[in-house]
Amino acid sequence: MALELYHDAAGFRSACESVRAHGGSLGLVPTMGALHAGHMALVQAAKRLTTKVAVTLFVNPTQFSVGEDFGRYPRTLEQDRKLCESNGVELLFVPSVEEMYPPGECTRVRVTGITDGLCGTFRSGHFDGVATVVSKFFGLAGTCTALFGKKDYQQLKVIERLVKDLMLPVSIVGHPIVREPDGVAMSSRNAYLTADERQRAAAIVVGLSSAWQSFEAGERSAPRLIERLKSKLVSEQLDIQYTELTHPENLEAWGTRTDLPERVLLAVAAYCGKTRLIDNVVLGEDPDPLQAAAAGHPSPAE
Ligand code: PAJ
Repeated sequence: MALELYHDAAGFRSACESVRAHGGSLGLVPTMGALHAGHMALVQAAKRLTTKVAVTLFVNPTQFSVGEDFGRYPRTLEQDRKLCESNGVELLFVPSVEEMYPPGECTRVRVTGITDGLCGTFRSGHFDGVATVVSKFFGLAGTCTALFGKKDYQQLKVIERLVKDLMLPVSIVGHPIVREPDGVAMSSRNAYLTADERQRAAAIVVGLSSAWQSFEAGERSAPRLIERLKSKLVSEQLDIQYTELTHPENLEAWGTRTDLPERVLLAVAAYCGKTRLIDNVVLGEDPDPLQAAAAGHPSPAE
């Protein structure tokens, strides 16, 4: 089936309804475009789980703070449309800002608690913007299975919470991080990196892998694990925003504990030049992120 492109919310809603009316199930993959193999892995997973897949492509202004990269975020619609088509996406929703935020709109969705730490500390209002726009997409799509990447781990947890709390008819599937062969997590923002920065960006996954190995060998001290990660970031002159070990579900920080439990999230945000990069690994659950990338397959556990 050819790709159907919608710019209007009403048209997209009825296309989604029609999938279910014909007895099918709907897979939803919300994106901001500048699509890459990470996004397409979500699409492929959605295709395995559902009858028809819808991708939303919208650079959402409310999740960017003043001074962030909303204006220069890569916009590659024609390329994205072709990629969706060749990956068998059936519905593509590309609304304008006015379509998603018409004059007079004044509702924001806020998920509290789990948005306080990690990226939430540094990107004020970011998760309100994400929760709001994703709620709108869920409202339009209706009953569906929606896929989100673990690369944006805190976002995934925020959306899981949102669906539960607002009792939405959406089942959320988290997808493992898709990495480049050298381990760097795929991201639309990697396009900002110079050749030198792109090389240095690998320090993030090298650091995560180093902490992973230490954890596997029995290290349960948060400061010592963090040190393993930090030393790699510092050696490649990355500017650390945060490195944190938290509970993988409620995202509460473990601080300086030396008796970490068997499953912990290790998350990092760092600037490589002017570009902010994030990455993470769930210690005690995910495989070594560096090895998984070298072996050419995304990490396991869905
Ligand atoms: P965007 O950054 O375009 O990402 C869209 C989806 O792709 C998210 O679920 C993200 O986690 C996933 N993704 C991106 N890179 C990935 C990678 N390397 N491996 C696995 N998954 C990856 O996240 C957003 O857009 C927005 O915040 C959005 C949810 C669309 C709301 O505006």
